Amino acid sequence: MPETKVVRLGVCGCGMIAEHHLAAMKLWESPVIVTVAIDPSEARRNIVSELTGAQAYATLEEALAEAADSMDAIALMLPHDLHAAYSLKVLAAGKHLFLEKPVARDAEESQQIFDAAAAAFKATGSRFFMAENSSFWPEVYRAKQLVQEGAIGEVVTARSHYYESMDDTPMNPDKDSKTKGNVEGSNSSGSGGGDGADVGGGNGDGDGDGNAALEEGSDDSESSESARYERADTGWLSWRSSLERSGGGVVLDGGQHWIRPLREFFGEEVKSVVATTGRPMKVLEGESLAHAILEFDSGRHASFQATVLGKSSAMSTREPCFRVIGTTGEIVVVGGFGAGGYIMRTGGIEEPLLPEGAPGGFLTSFGPQMNDFANAILQDKPFYRAPEYAMGDMLVAKAIAKSASSRAWVDVWDAKTEHFKQTF
Ligand SMILES: NC(=O)c1ccc[n+]([C@@H]2O[C@H](COP(=O)([O-])OP(=O)(O)OC[C@H]3O[C@@H](n4cnc5c(N)ncnc54)[C@H](O)[C@@H]3O)[C@@H](O)[C@H]2O)c1
Repeated sequence: MPETKVVRLGVCGCGMIAEHHLAAMKLWESPVIVTVAIDPSEARRNIVSELTGAQAYATLEEALAEAADSMDAIALMLPHDLHAAYSLKVLAAGKHLFLEKPVARDAEESQQIFDAAAAAFKATGSRFFMAENSSFWPEVYRAKQLVQEGAIGEVVTARSHYYESMDDTPMNPDKDSKTKGNVEGSNSSGSGGGDGADVGGGNGDGDGDGNAALEEGSDDSESSESARYERADTGWLSWRSSLERSGGGVVLDGGQHWIRPLREFFGEEVKSVVATTGRPMKVLEGESLAHAILEFDSGRHASFQATVLGKSSAMSTREPCFRVIGTTGEIVVVGGFGAGGYIMRTGGIEEPLLPEGAPGGFLTSFGPQMNDFANAILQDKPFYRAPEYAMGDMLVAKAIAKSASSRAWVDVWDAKTEHFKQTF
């Protein structure tokens, strides 16, 4: 690998999450420059190219053929059905791989990626990073720290609720101009970064309301479900609508970010789950509602709920997104996308979770995450969370879907996946 002070990144998949990463990279002054933008949609790749000065290509193959020398790493921000095949291409090209969650649609595809990553590391030294940003979510990170310090005694139970109002129509190319404005508008202030694990450091202006970034102009003019599927090639909800393409419903998608923190708080793996699911958002073939009980290795239980509705819904963000109850206290992370929270100690003493003025909220996690990726590569050190951690998030999501259809408790791990189990 060439010795550089920055990581030159190709972004493959210039959709919604790519925009969040670009905004975060600027806010946190990441040691990353985007040199290549890849997307079959000309409008999408041009947005990233205009924002970063990157060379734009329609396919990964073209980019590798013409611009391989200007990329150290490639970030895959793609529909889930492309994760395995594209990861293998990136690793075969000798590039570091940054892969958005979930690892893939199932355990078999994920194993292919891990096998290819192990072989690539041996052959070329390229590294594999699984992007699950909730480990870098300041409130989650602080809560985990407090739990480890014994600030609430022994964890008795916990609860997480992922709730979100989503655009229920596929992205209309006409929306691109509004989307671009949104990203530019969010690059207003802040600097910092450094060690990605130091999630409390630096400045960001994440407002913690993920909805704000997701609520670009929607186009409800195409109201019939069949019309939505016909426009499926460009819509961000389009591939999510298909169970075949996404590998699951909202639990495997956004729900991952509310499952990982429960594992962090308990400091152990989920052993089995029992769940019910529903489909209030009919455009999604997978579940958009889930209630699950997660049983951890120690026998303790947590509950997890996911509720995703169309944009016309009005879900109050007063409900905490995390509640961790211990023998001598409780930690609460407030709001739908968790910006702020408090610790309640014996005797009713309440203290804020983060120091005053510290950046917080879900969106604040992207900068530290990218910095962890880049700094680990540049300084040849381990990532804050090894990619294997992401297997637990994905397998819990798969077990929730399986339990809902079998109406029975389902084990999360089997003989083929047990080697991915982590200690926290
Ligand atoms: N960490 C988070 O908070 C978070 C949030 C949303 C999505 N995600 C993850 O990010 C990934 C992408 O999700 P998204 O919401 O950005 O989806 P999206 O549909 O908005 O973007 C995907 C982009 O990939 C492009 N694409 C499709 N096929 C391609 C190909 N063959 N080569 C290159 N580009 C191609 C599409 O044109 C689109 O622009 C998924 O893995 C998703 O789970 C993570």
